[in-house]
Amino acid sequence: MITKVCCIGAGYVGGPTSSVIALKCPSVTVTVVDYNKERIEAWNSADYDLPIYEPSLVDVVRECRGRNLFFSTEVAKSIEEADLIFISVNTPTKTFGLGKGRAADLKYIESAARCIADYAHGPKVVVEKSTVPVKAAESISRILKANSRNGNCFQVLSNPEFLAEGTAIKDLLNPDRVLIGGPQTEDGQHAVRCLCWIYEHWVSKSNIITTNTWSSELSKLAANAFLAQRISSINAMSAICEATGADVGEVAHAIGTDSRIGPKFLQASVGFGGSCFQKDVLNLVYLCEVLHLPEVAAYWQQVVDMNDYQRRRFSNRIIASLFNTVTDKKIAILGFAFKKDTADTRESSSIFVCQHLIDEGAQVVVYDPKVREASVRRDVNMVCSDPERVERLLTVSEDAYSAVQDAHAFVVCTEWDEFKTLDFQRIYDSMLKPSFAFDGRIILNHEQLRTIGFQVEVIGQASKQRVASGFFE
Ligand code: UDX
Ligand code: ADP
Repeated sequence: MITKVCCIGAGYVGGPTSSVIALKCPSVTVTVVDYNKERIEAWNSADYDLPIYEPSLVDVVRECRGRNLFFSTEVAKSIEEADLIFISVNTPTKTFGLGKGRAADLKYIESAARCIADYAHGPKVVVEKSTVPVKAAESISRILKANSRNGNCFQVLSNPEFLAEGTAIKDLLNPDRVLIGGPQTEDGQHAVRCLCWIYEHWVSKSNIITTNTWSSELSKLAANAFLAQRISSINAMSAICEATGADVGEVAHAIGTDSRIGPKFLQASVGFGGSCFQKDVLNLVYLCEVLHLPEVAAYWQQVVDMNDYQRRRFSNRIIASLFNTVTDKKIAILGFAFKKDTADTRESSSIFVCQHLIDEGAQVVVYDPKVREASVRRDVNMVCSDPERVERLLTVSEDAYSAVQDAHAFVVCTEWDEFKTLDFQRIYDSMLKPSFAFDGRIILNHEQLRTIGFQVEVIGQASKQRVASGFFE
C-alpha cells in the first residue's frame, strides 16, 4: 500500500500532477519538493499566487494544500518518508558538449537519483515522469544500485506525462490513457501494480496501459514526435496554400474529416513552441544517430526544420508586405506565450518573430495577457546578439490598445481568446495607414477586418492583393 508520495520537482509537470493525485487519493499524502526556495514559497503563498498559471489549478491546490498536499524544500526528509517517488525535474536540451543542441541534459535526473540513493531508507518505487531518452530508467537504476546503502531495493518505472499546458488539470483528470512501463520481474510488476492503484482512484483500468520500460520511454518521445509532425505537415501545406490560393483551413477540414486522419492538431500556425516538441524531436534525432540510424534521424529532423522555416517565412511575409522594410516601423506583437491559457514562453514562436523584426530594425511592442515583461526581455535577449539594440527597440505593453497605438501593423502570434473580441475599429483608428493585420493563428474575422480597412495577411491564405492582381493566373 502506498501512503506517502514524494515528487521531486515543483514545475509544470510535478506541480499539477501531484495536486491531482492528492485530490483524487485522499488517503495518500503527497509532498512536492524542489530546491528552488522561491518556487516552493509561491506554491505555499497565502494568496495562492502559484508559480505557474493553469486553469483550475488554484482550485485543486486550495482544496488539498495542508490536507494531504504539501510543498517543501526538505528534499531529504520527504524522500526518506515516501513509499513512491516521482522524478519530475527538467530535462532541457544540452547546450554544450556531446549531443549539444539535441540530446537531453540528464544532469537534473541524475542528481535527483543520487539524492534518492543518499536519503532513502528501505525499498522505494521510483517513477520517472520527466521525458527522458530511451533507457534512462536503466541509468537511474544503476545509479541507485551503485550508491544506495543498507542493500536498499528500488524499482524504477517509467510513467510519462501527456498533459498539455493550458489544459493540464483537464488532461490529468480525464487522460486518454495512463502509460506505465516497468521491469518484467516479479518485484517490477508489483511496483507497476502499486502505481496503477494510485491512478485507479479516478482512471478506469482499461485506460491504463502497461508495457516494458523501454516501450514506455519511447512512446512518450514518439507521441510528441507524431504530434509535432502533424503541425509541421499542415504548416508545409500552408506554404503551398499561400502560393496557390488554396486555403489551409479548408484543406485541414477536408482532410481531417477522413476518420483515419482525424481533425485534431491540424491548425496551421506560426510554428509550434513549448518546452516539449522541439526538445523531444531533437532528442529522438540524437537517439537515432547514436543508434546508427541516419535516415530515421534525418526524417525526424525535418519536423524541426519545417518549424524553423515556418517562423522565418511568416516574419519574411510581414517584412515583404510592409513594402520590404520594417526599419523604425512600429509593429505590435499580440501574444508572447507559446499557446493560449499559459504564461509559459519556452520556445515560443513569438520570440523568433520578435528577433527577426528587431534584426530588421523594427520597433517591436509586445502585449500578452499573462506573460510578464521580465520574461519577454529575457527571452528576446537570449536570441538577439545585441542587448543595446533590444533595449532600444523592444517595449512591452500593458494592454492591446496601447500596444497598437501608432503602429504600422499588428501581428497575432498566440491564439488568446481575448484577441478575437478586441474593438478593431478602435484599433484601426489608432494605427498608421495603411494598417496591416497579420494573423499567425487564423483566429480573427478577416472579412470584418477588411471591411474596416485593414490590409489582412493570414497564414495559409494567399494575400488578397496578389489574388486580385491575377498573380495566380
Ligand atoms: C505537448 C503535448 O501535447 C503533450 O501531450 C506533452 O505532454 C507535452 O507537449 P504542450 O507543449 O503543452 O503539450 O502544448 P500543445 O497543445 O501540444 O501545443 C504545442 C504547440 O503546438 C503550441 O505552440 C501550439 O500552439 C502548437 N499547435 C498545436 C499548433 O500550432 N497547431 C495545432 O494544431 C496544435
Ligand atoms: P517541467 O516542465 O518538466 O515540469 P520545470 O523546469 O517547470 O520542468 O520544473 C522542474 C523543477 O525541478 C524545477 O523547479 C527545478 O528547480 C526542480 N529540480 C531540478 N532538479 C532537482 C533536484 N535534484 N531536486 C529538487 N528539485 C529539482
